[in-house]
Amino acid sequence: LAASSGFLNKGSLTFPSVKINVRRVRVGSARQGHKVIAASAPETWMAPDDFKSAALVSSREQYQEMYDRSINDPGGFWGDIAEEFFWETKWDPENVVKSNFNMDDGKVEATWFAGGKTNIAYNCLDRHVENGKGDDIAFYWEGNAIGEDSTLTFSQLKDEVCKTANYLKSVGVKKGDRVIIYMPMLNELPIAMLACARLGAIHSVVFGGFSAEALAQRISGSLSDVVLTCSAVMRGTKSIGLKDIVDKAIAITSAEGFTPSTVVVYDNTRAMAKEDLPMVEGRDVWWNEVMSSMSTDCEVEWVDAEDPLFMLYTSGSTGMPKGVVHTTGGYMVYAATTFKYVFDYKDGDVYWCTADCGWITGHSYLAYGPLLNGASQVVFEGVPTYPDAGRCWAIVDKYKVSQFYTAPTAIRALQRSGDAIVKQYDRSSLRILGSVGEPINPEAWRWYHEVVGDGRCPIVDTWWQTETAGHMITPLPGGWALKPGSASLPFFGVEPAIVDEKGNELEGEAEGLLCIKSPWPSMMRTLYQDHARYETAYFSAVKGYYFSGDGARRDADGYYWITGRVDDVINVSGHRIGTAEVESALVTHPKCAEAAVVGVDHPVKGQGIYAYVTLMEGVDYDEDLRKELKVSVRSVIGAFAAPDTIHWAPGLPKTRSGKIMRRILRKIASNEIDQLGDTSTLAEPAIVDTLIDLKGNVK
Ligand code: PRX
Repeated sequence: LAASSGFLNKGSLTFPSVKINVRRVRVGSARQGHKVIAASAPETWMAPDDFKSAALVSSREQYQEMYDRSINDPGGFWGDIAEEFFWETKWDPENVVKSNFNMDDGKVEATWFAGGKTNIAYNCLDRHVENGKGDDIAFYWEGNAIGEDSTLTFSQLKDEVCKTANYLKSVGVKKGDRVIIYMPMLNELPIAMLACARLGAIHSVVFGGFSAEALAQRISGSLSDVVLTCSAVMRGTKSIGLKDIVDKAIAITSAEGFTPSTVVVYDNTRAMAKEDLPMVEGRDVWWNEVMSSMSTDCEVEWVDAEDPLFMLYTSGSTGMPKGVVHTTGGYMVYAATTFKYVFDYKDGDVYWCTADCGWITGHSYLAYGPLLNGASQVVFEGVPTYPDAGRCWAIVDKYKVSQFYTAPTAIRALQRSGDAIVKQYDRSSLRILGSVGEPINPEAWRWYHEVVGDGRCPIVDTWWQTETAGHMITPLPGGWALKPGSASLPFFGVEPAIVDEKGNELEGEAEGLLCIKSPWPSMMRTLYQDHARYETAYFSAVKGYYFSGDGARRDADGYYWITGRVDDVINVSGHRIGTAEVESALVTHPKCAEAAVVGVDHPVKGQGIYAYVTLMEGVDYDEDLRKELKVSVRSVIGAFAAPDTIHWAPGLPKTRSGKIMRRILRKIASNEIDQLGDTSTLAEPAIVDTLIDLKGNVK
């Protein structure tokens, strides 16, 4: 296995406006804690000749030629692709991309296709209907329970989007307004997104697992006057009341002085009886009632390529979540092109991405990328393990899925249930398997490849982020040999750079911080109402580059190996969580004086959340308190961010200047006591031994 044991030494990058503490990261190996099978499996795997010859990109030479053009002539490369879409007004061909990405003054602006006017919803729907594809299936919707399913053709989807857009218009939503969507994976979720896009309104989708407080922050942060939601949803055997959470969130925003005027509630009778749901007179309406009288014709709002399409909050290493803003034209072209090449999309394919539209993957590779390509796809409401661990393979079999895209955490969870349940189902329709959200350990890669894909299907391990909005480093399935655990090569138009802790770009085989050195069409343009934070958080740590927050190694073949975050962001089951957010949620508990959170390896989730908690003077540690602290995090962020482990800490290891030494906390958490390193700079070195002693009481 091509893994190195290189280390990037802990250090810190200090530049005028930001300081990033770089963790000591093991680079190039499988994520620590996952066993790497040194089996007879080959180090690299190449798609068979018949796959390659039919693929859109069938050799590294073909890729290299296209890639070189995309870098040397981005205007020509992306301009040609953009011609395939409908533009009401063409962009200025002399200025396809304009940016001051690498300027020394720290100011960052980028535009793509400026002057062009288009509409992404029109390109997702009307364009296909007008081209005679109206009767093709857009969505095969599969509900939580077996036997719940339905289909929507492109023209039916267009009708639903128009009705929803007409309703939004009737309550005053217009271009530039923000709309909160807090929905489960019903067809109505992408319908709502497309309806906003049709009107030029900015959607802000909030994942259904976020708590009332987190939702409140996002409502008042964007001053969204309209909230689209659902009565409740079934997740496996559990019913989760979403409207109830919306009510609580609005109670919080109202107390702070902002109250949305309209809440549209989808009546999901499978999860909750209509009579059981209190509605607020004058504010709440039933989706199913108001939409039924709306017209299926809705004029398209032509927007500028640089008008915002959506905002989506994501976690950073410090402070509150950031409202990442993406615009229309570049996003459209990039989401469609990455979808087409990475999934080698062909007419007749049935694609399935298991992501929720509450995350970026559901935006780019469910709502937009596939629809822009006119693809038929599965939209799944449920969870991969309900009613049993064979559900995904049953769905693959039922719809004859050709591309399956999921997260390593799901792969590892399903792997635990053994091979027999996978083999009960016919998976011969599968052509490509995809992975996203976290590093995939080679062991899970091989199981996915050998058992799920019967050794036939390339795995596209796609590295990208909320901020990049589309795949950045990824295999093209017919293009080159795959190495388990490597995302391989940059997509067209992407110029990655490996930078050392002093900010110097390294050539050839190298390991360090993963940066991008030129603009790509779907790069985020700003943080909502905070352009200064955008520039500081992403562009000031490594001058002249976009800094991703990840570490990576480049091997002798030019392949990239992503090793995970080097900042204080942890990735739990593919969910990105800032340690600072969890810490501030813990200290909302009146008995918690201080908290420090680190990530630890977890066999299924990738990383788990490990929290050190110092209680107020005189408060005793007890089991009820441990539970209460977890509840605090659930209520401030959501259940997915609750700590797995709480370690009582009478004090925390701090430097004399008061900075918590997380390196030590990480080592204690992961039982690497022999590798604590230098503790002499601590204000109170004895606290380390106390914490080690208290490890026996960790739960
Ligand atoms: O650490 C990287 C990890 O997920 C982070 C981005 O998280 P988010 O914005 O929530 O987007 C997730 C879906 C794109 C990255 O900084 N990550 C994502 N994909 C991979 C990955 N790490 C390793 N390999 C990947 N394929």
